[in-house]
Amino acid sequence: MVSRESSGDKEYIRRFSFCRVVEHLALIVLFVILAVTGLSQKFHFLGVSQSLIIAMGGIDDVRFLHHVVGILFMVLTAQHIFVNLVGIVFQQWEPSMLITFKDAHDALYNVRYYLGLVGQPAMCGRYNYKEKFIYWLILLGGIQQIITGFILWFPVAATKYLPGQFIPISKAIHTNEAMLIFLIIAVWHIYDSMFSPEVFPLNTSIFTGYIEKKRMQQEHPLELAQLIEAGEEELSD
Ligand code: HEM
Ligand code: HEM
Repeated sequence: MVSRESSGDKEYIRRFSFCRVVEHLALIVLFVILAVTGLSQKFHFLGVSQSLIIAMGGIDDVRFLHHVVGILFMVLTAQHIFVNLVGIVFQQWEPSMLITFKDAHDALYNVRYYLGLVGQPAMCGRYNYKEKFIYWLILLGGIQQIITGFILWFPVAATKYLPGQFIPISKAIHTNEAMLIFLIIAVWHIYDSMFSPEVFPLNTSIFTGYIEKKRMQQEHPLELAQLIEAGEEELSD
């Protein structure tokens, strides 16, 4: 099951399956629409928000779009959880996104690396601690946005089962979590995958499914060693 490709003198290894590539593209599209339709409501007093709301057909259309895309986001999240649970339980997929003690160790070790106290960065496996942080932020933060989003959408139904205070609480959580996710993706994830010197101008792995072997050696040396030992360079999800 070797899946390597050569282009010029560069060698590429498969990092993401086609389904992962499509899933990430869908996540980008849905998140951008939710952020634009949500944040333009939050910052409705800004000129740029008002221009966006008018361009999208007015506030009713903006809210409608936010709700429809919110449902699609929920479907994407549910399929991600279902597919991965089935894969891990029935198909022996490695749960490589689980947080371990090694991640805490790697994070502390890299502080020493950035201070120049050690010569090499931490040796990471399939996902490093930063990638795991982004992943859990989007998954848990996303589930939380779905729950609070539905409470805001159906406040009367929600208060049949929950105390009334849950409505303002949901609003505070939904709006602040939206800002947190937006800023972390815009500043950290986009920096890491576009502007960081190692990958500039773009880390194409999540779009093509392939990663250059040299980068794999630098960023995921433990996983590369595992693959070489197993004699295969096709990665699981
Ligand atoms: C990552 C995903 C999401 C982001 C970034 C996001 C962002 C936002 C923001 C910034 C607001 C404005 C809050 C304010 O006025 O202070 C908002 C409102 C709202 N969101 Fe979301 N949201 C997300 C997901 C969802 C989901 C999944 C649903 C449920 C279907 C939802 C339903 C709502 C509702 C009902 C409101 C109140 C305003 C309205 O009726 O449109 N949101 N959202
Ligand atoms: C143009 C915008 C974006 C680019 C260039 C980009 C790029 C990437 C790349 C290269 C990876 C793979 C990193 C690896 O090798 O493991 C990745 C993973 C991921 N991306 Fe994005 N991404 C973008 C937008 C987004 C958005 C908007 C979200 C969600 C709101 C998102 C969520 C994730 C998650 C959860 C992962 C898996 C964890 C990780 O590897 O960091 N991405 N992205």
